[in-house]
Amino acid sequence: MSYQNILLETVGGISVLTINRPDKRNALNQATRDEILVVLDALQGSDSRVLVITGAGDKAFIAGADIGEFAGRSALEQRAMMKQRRIFDAIEEFPKPVIAMINGFCLGGGMELALACDIRIASDNAKLGQPEINLGIIPGGGGTQRLTRLVGEGKAMELILTGEAIDAAEGRAIGLVNDVVPQAELRERVLALAGKIAEKSPVALRLAKEAVKFAARSGLKEGLDRETDLFGLVFSSEDKELGVRAFLEKRKPEFKGR
Ligand code: COA
Repeated sequence: MSYQNILLETVGGISVLTINRPDKRNALNQATRDEILVVLDALQGSDSRVLVITGAGDKAFIAGADIGEFAGRSALEQRAMMKQRRIFDAIEEFPKPVIAMINGFCLGGGMELALACDIRIASDNAKLGQPEINLGIIPGGGGTQRLTRLVGEGKAMELILTGEAIDAAEGRAIGLVNDVVPQAELRERVLALAGKIAEKSPVALRLAKEAVKFAARSGLKEGLDRETDLFGLVFSSEDKELGVRAFLEKRKPEFKGR
């Protein structure tokens, strides 16, 4: 299938989805959002084990929602749009690990997309922020909720109320990004990380992601109960048998995803 606004490549169980609008700093217009949803649905049932999301070019990951596109929308039109299925939720609920490969400006909806991913790796030139306040609006793609859960209320308030972007090093210091690497090494380092994860059991990865995501939405008691359920479930997988047997026989397991 060919796409107008994104590129998709899958090698060795790792899919890389690249938002391909570098002239617009990979801003998210509706057509791009629609294509992302199509790709996510297609990858769910595929052999691909890890998804990496990035932006084309060396300037931007994603510079936010397409401002030109939403500028002309009425409140009712915007509301209707917000009620559609959202890429941020679809990424968060995607049953395989998703890594944001942040290669430059990561602003507004770009930050919200990165926040919906499971791991964020930034290049040393990246800038991260929620600049919506500068436009007289607020984050609407989960930024107020996911950023606060990730970095705490104080830092989230500062970023959202000032609209100022921080650099990648500060992003790492506050726990917003997992790691910062030189721009020239970004792809190689992210693919190495994705490769490491792709070797694990897809069943265990899926349940681990579900369990960790649940932690942010529940009290400790419900979270521990959910973990116990998921732990019981993972015990019924063929991959658990393969993994345990391989350990006892002192060799590397080859997980099947069953
Ligand atoms: N929506 C629509 N177009 C955008 C965009 C966005 N979020 N961000 C960048 N662009 C477009 C610019 O309008 C410009 O288009 P043009 O060449 O047709 O005029 C092109 O991308 C390049 O942008 P420019 O500002 O010249 O690049 P830069 O490298 O100097 O600056 C940014 C990059 C990201 C700092 C700057 O473009 C910016 O601040 N963008 C808006 C970020 C934002 O507020 N996002 C939240 C939206 S809710």
